[in-house]
Amino acid sequence: MIKTISAPLTTNKHLARWVEKMADLTQPDTIHWIDGSQAEYDFLCGKLMDVGTFTKLNPDLWPGCFYARSDAKDVARVEERTYICSLSKDNAGPTNNWEDPFVMRRKLKQLFRGCMRGRTMYVLAFSMGPVGSPMSQLGVQLTDSEYAVVNMRIMARVGLPVLAEIDKDIQRVVSCMHSVGAPLLGRQKDVPWPCNDEKYIVHFPETREIWSYGSGYGGNALLGKKCFALRIASNIARDEGWMAEHMLIVGLENPQGQKTYVAAAFPSACGKTNFAMMVTPRGMEGWKVWTVGDDIAWIKPDANGSLRAINPESGFFGVAPGTSAKTNPNAMATLRKNTIFTNVALTPDGGVWWEGMTDIPPAECLDWKGQRWTPEIAKATGATAAHPNGRFTAPASQCPVIDESWESPAGVPISAIIFGGRRSTTMPLVFQAFNWSAGVYSAATMGSETTAAAAGALGKVRRDPMAMLPFCGYHMGDYFRHWIRMQRSLSTTPRVFHVNWFRKSENGKFLWPGFSENMRVLKWIVDRVGGRAQGKETPIGWTPHYEDIYWNGLEFPQAQFDELQRVDRAAWKQEVMGHEELFIALHDHLPPEMIYERELLICRL
Ligand code: OXD
Ligand code: MN
Repeated sequence: MIKTISAPLTTNKHLARWVEKMADLTQPDTIHWIDGSQAEYDFLCGKLMDVGTFTKLNPDLWPGCFYARSDAKDVARVEERTYICSLSKDNAGPTNNWEDPFVMRRKLKQLFRGCMRGRTMYVLAFSMGPVGSPMSQLGVQLTDSEYAVVNMRIMARVGLPVLAEIDKDIQRVVSCMHSVGAPLLGRQKDVPWPCNDEKYIVHFPETREIWSYGSGYGGNALLGKKCFALRIASNIARDEGWMAEHMLIVGLENPQGQKTYVAAAFPSACGKTNFAMMVTPRGMEGWKVWTVGDDIAWIKPDANGSLRAINPESGFFGVAPGTSAKTNPNAMATLRKNTIFTNVALTPDGGVWWEGMTDIPPAECLDWKGQRWTPEIAKATGATAAHPNGRFTAPASQCPVIDESWESPAGVPISAIIFGGRRSTTMPLVFQAFNWSAGVYSAATMGSETTAAAAGALGKVRRDPMAMLPFCGYHMGDYFRHWIRMQRSLSTTPRVFHVNWFRKSENGKFLWPGFSENMRVLKWIVDRVGGRAQGKETPIGWTPHYEDIYWNGLEFPQAQFDELQRVDRAAWKQEVMGHEELFIALHDHLPPEMIYERELLICRL
């Protein structure tokens, strides 16, 4: 018999019935309706400490913080186990895994039957975006993972206020089933990180459902994030005429106090969180960067035909390694309290550490696998203290540069969209696309070089259209078409820019210092948007002259700038050839504008 330790917190009959049906399927011991309170959060963190998932960090150093280690086989999103189960295979397109939805449902039913035995099923109502905002979307995640619940409470708005929205029964609710796939049978003792070697992350776009099995980690388990806010939301957005994008949002304030909001898309490992919390460089005092979001943007045309964006999340699920007081002081300030750390190192004083956090590593610590780690051991074995995908889950409200409008129900106005990848050659520091469709072309063909962190050949350019390759929940060719069509509902289209912080000289040195100095590029972008900056016409778009960039506080020789900005026609011809593979894969769904833009680019070169 299932015990309910909290009464159903809804008057919505559909929701109550669905919860009952799913409990029948998964057979949990108890059902717990999440109210979202601090007391409940504390109770769940206590439960996680009892079973060994959580270690409380030293409250004098890390108040309200917890530390967790995952199973060594459950450390990242599992793209090869991620499916878009649309009715037709063609709708998923060649960039997604697909399975017949009827076959997949049968498979999932088998997997979920009895999978919550011995556990509690949590009913977690959540809102992506501020509760009650017309730009927000509602979901309910059923999960047997306390870890998922407490992380979701940081990453999304959860509990009673959301249930009150669901009770109005006006908005469609995305149902999200999640299980770690580790039932506790008989007197079986739990483990700190329950999971299953068999993993499935499944999306049904037509019925707006998510089913996730076998993993407790990150994007596999916090279903509001990649699964809902990108894969399912990209489908909703296409149907409703808006955009769900893998973009950060920042407000750039000039010394006169005027703010310009921009959204920016970069593939993984290109410093998105750092960019979202940028500190302005020496010589640009008076300029300020305000954070609205670091990962996802939902962008909609308003009644006047201008684009406005919200950050659907309420926290940062950031990569820890490489984050430091030097690279991102605002992130370091954000994660100082009330943060959950996963797969980083635990120091003897009850703190955390990861590679790059300090110049001098701790003399010893316990690594992300719980083994003793010292700099000497690292030297001898190459073992890192933190897993490269070790994370912090921190409330956005704690960010010292969080924008005053970050929770505005109407979102913030978007004046420019920036795309960028990691490219050691060809791509200049910055260029502005000639118009919307040229911008869509440059974003669709965006590439990034593979780093040592990913398997495969080093330095090979991988196409990652709009940084959405793993996250677009339908056919990528249709997604480009949707981008092209968006222009029709706009009275003013945001200007589109392409940046590259990673270009190298012939002797392999980075040509651009990056980090704070990127603010100089942003200033040019803001000035272009405001009609205040000059640009030079090149075959690929508008680029700044040396004197168009604000150099106060930075010695940067013109010759180096010219090399950084050089449009090498031969390299660009090669580049356009490199776009071919994408065009071949998507040819039967590509909008004609993509072909025209390609032809135009070839002609200009
Ligand atoms: C992320 C990602 O975790 O893009 O944000 O992989
Ligand atoms: Mn991301």
